[in-house]
Amino acid sequence: METLLLSDSEEQLEIAAKLIQDGEIVGIPTETVYGLGADASNEEAVRSVFAAKGRPADNPLIVHLAYFSDAEKYTRHIPKLAYRLAGHFCPGPLTIVLPKNDRIPMVTSGGLDTVGIRVPSHPVMHRIIELSGCPIAAPSANASGYPSTTTAKHVISDMDGKIAAVVDGGQSEYGVESTVIAIEDEDTVRILRPGCVTREMLLKHCGNVIIDPAILHDLAEGQKAASPGMKYKHYSPKADIIMVESSLEDFTDYVGKKGGDEVFSLIFDGDEKDFPYRHMTYGGDSLSQAHLLFQRLRELDDIGAKKVYVRAPQADGVGLAVYNRLIRAAGFEVIRI
Ligand code: TXA
Ligand code: MG
Repeated sequence: METLLLSDSEEQLEIAAKLIQDGEIVGIPTETVYGLGADASNEEAVRSVFAAKGRPADNPLIVHLAYFSDAEKYTRHIPKLAYRLAGHFCPGPLTIVLPKNDRIPMVTSGGLDTVGIRVPSHPVMHRIIELSGCPIAAPSANASGYPSTTTAKHVISDMDGKIAAVVDGGQSEYGVESTVIAIEDEDTVRILRPGCVTREMLLKHCGNVIIDPAILHDLAEGQKAASPGMKYKHYSPKADIIMVESSLEDFTDYVGKKGGDEVFSLIFDGDEKDFPYRHMTYGGDSLSQAHLLFQRLRELDDIGAKKVYVRAPQADGVGLAVYNRLIRAAGFEVIRI
């Protein structure tokens, strides 16, 4: 299959929407990362998404809608707190897990009786949903286990020949996937995956926010994940990633003792003045780190890095999302100095 590269013009978006209606998979831009979009109600189309990614069948897909009010068509019940949070954060990088109805097939929900609902703010994604008239199931558009994609070029590099088309909507604004939450009770949410809607932002609109333990820790053998995606190795480039929590001075000493031709460091903007070893920078504040992280992990592979020491970000605010992706990319290998 030849993968078409489409622009974001109205005519090309009509082609993308038609492909989705016909049960094909289209790479689509969102404000978080690119997605592999298919009609969420078409079991065969959804099966082909799992196949294209090489994704385990029990890892559910998020369903993307044009408006949060459309969630009423696909769920059994929407708690008041979900409406309240949607009022503040939708459209945007938030996914709310709700009890699903029969219009969402079990293949889409990975066998769960819930569905993650997201209303993307990216105008191109919004338009594709409207034109297709379909609820769009879309996992991140990367080969399973590999870093997510934030440009159309990355999608082509992972998916060429496996999907019908990719729509180029520019570089993703946030760069990490949406915050996934479950509603625990009238005033409590649980963050299943951290993103750019932070715990602090959610706390302005509800009483309690629980951070699921799987966000920062490896699950013990036999432990059940509230979000199935948390149990899989993730976001890993080919290079071996090692996180280092330390001052810049200790980081520099540590890396200096490692040496070797294929060793690189991923450091913060501003660190490079006093850092004599091979490196890339990935932003100063948490938002720019989120924006750049996956792109840098891919670039490190492109230049043939075999081992990458990464300065660990602060694990709060948006930094919690960056930390969560990195600790998985590192297979939970963290060096604390
Ligand atoms: O920003 C995003 O969320 C991107 C863009 C394309 O929208 N999508 C994305 O999808 O990151 P994916 O499939 O790569 O990650 C979805 C995560 C997985 O960890 C999955 O286990 C979890 O959300 N998830 C989805 N539905 C769920 C459900 N019903 N209950 C619990 N976790 C769920
Ligand atoms: Mg993903």
